[in-house]
Amino acid sequence: MPRIGFGAAQLGNLYRRTTDAEARGAVDAAWEGGIRLFDTAPHYGLGTSERRLGALLAGLPREELLLSTKVGRLLRPGPGRGDDLENGFAVPDDLERVWDMSEQGVRRSHEESLERLGTDRVDTLYLHDPEEGPTEQALAEALPALAAMREEGLVSRVGVGSKDVDVLLKAVGTGLVDQVMLSGRYTLLEQPAAAALLPACLERGIEVVAVSVFNSGILARPTVPDDATYEYGAAPREMLERARALAAAAAHHGIELPDLAIQHPLRHPAITTVVLGMRTAHQVRENLARAAARIPEELWEQIGA
Ligand SMILES: NC(=O)c1ccc[n+]([C@@H]2O[C@H](COP(=O)([O-])OP(=O)(O)OC[C@H]3O[C@@H](n4cnc5c(N)ncnc54)[C@H](OP(=O)(O)O)[C@@H]3O)[C@@H](O)[C@H]2O)c1
Repeated sequence: MPRIGFGAAQLGNLYRRTTDAEARGAVDAAWEGGIRLFDTAPHYGLGTSERRLGALLAGLPREELLLSTKVGRLLRPGPGRGDDLENGFAVPDDLERVWDMSEQGVRRSHEESLERLGTDRVDTLYLHDPEEGPTEQALAEALPALAAMREEGLVSRVGVGSKDVDVLLKAVGTGLVDQVMLSGRYTLLEQPAAAALLPACLERGIEVVAVSVFNSGILARPTVPDDATYEYGAAPREMLERARALAAAAAHHGIELPDLAIQHPLRHPAITTVVLGMRTAHQVRENLARAAARIPEELWEQIGA
């Protein structure tokens, strides 16, 4: 697995519109910078991310890159009255998400994703946010369906993408997953996955892809503004204080907070990859430089990482 991957929720207009020029610039900069792993989902902008990413990757050698998408929500005709901002995406609501964790639903979701992406295969297929939908059915039906699809050769690897450590632990316990996409639960700011989930993954040889390593914004900039976001909302005071203390410790060594945020998860032996959500070429180039920054061991020791 590559160390750094490209998260395409932003290509689905997460929070606000990403222009076509920005999207193209971001994907081109990622490819030129050596990024070879791209992650998307039907959820991201009601298919917008998959369509855009597929079109932007179309000219590139498919065998040289890894592509992941997710299942769990089908896209079906929506109200068509406005936008999808209540779910976080600046796209028209002419489609809506319908949970479907049945075997048939999972297989249909996969086929529809391939169509939107304009490709004949994805490398990893994740079960998306099982904690937000019918969780029991996700584990009992959707996960075995994914494993069956892997056995049939439809996908190379299967996994679960979630912010819920307990659900991920249950999924790992089924013995069916190759990968886990862990959102926001092992970051510079907080590490609830360290106690049980990451050791379980390590023991079973399950690769962990860490995402939301900026905790959705609060760790993305060298200084932490009062209006920083945490978990897609206003950051609580305790988080602001903790992030500022980390930024100050980093600055003392001439290092910036996002450099630490990107590299921190990769110090854990279970975590192979960090996938970063990026909207522009500038963000991609900056983050690749941050991923390569030399961070003194003394600083890691000082912050207990
Ligand atoms: N359950 C799941 O499976 C799951 C959950 C979450 C994420 N993911 C995946 O992981 C990816 C990343 O997650 P994420 O978007 O939540 O989190 P993130 O990587 O923690 O944060 C992304 C945000 O950081 C900002 N940013 C990135 N680079 C920056 C830079 N150089 N300078 C300033 N700001 C910068 C961008 O802000 P702006 O918006 O201001 O441009 C971007 O929206 C997603 O795209 C998705 O592929 C999966």
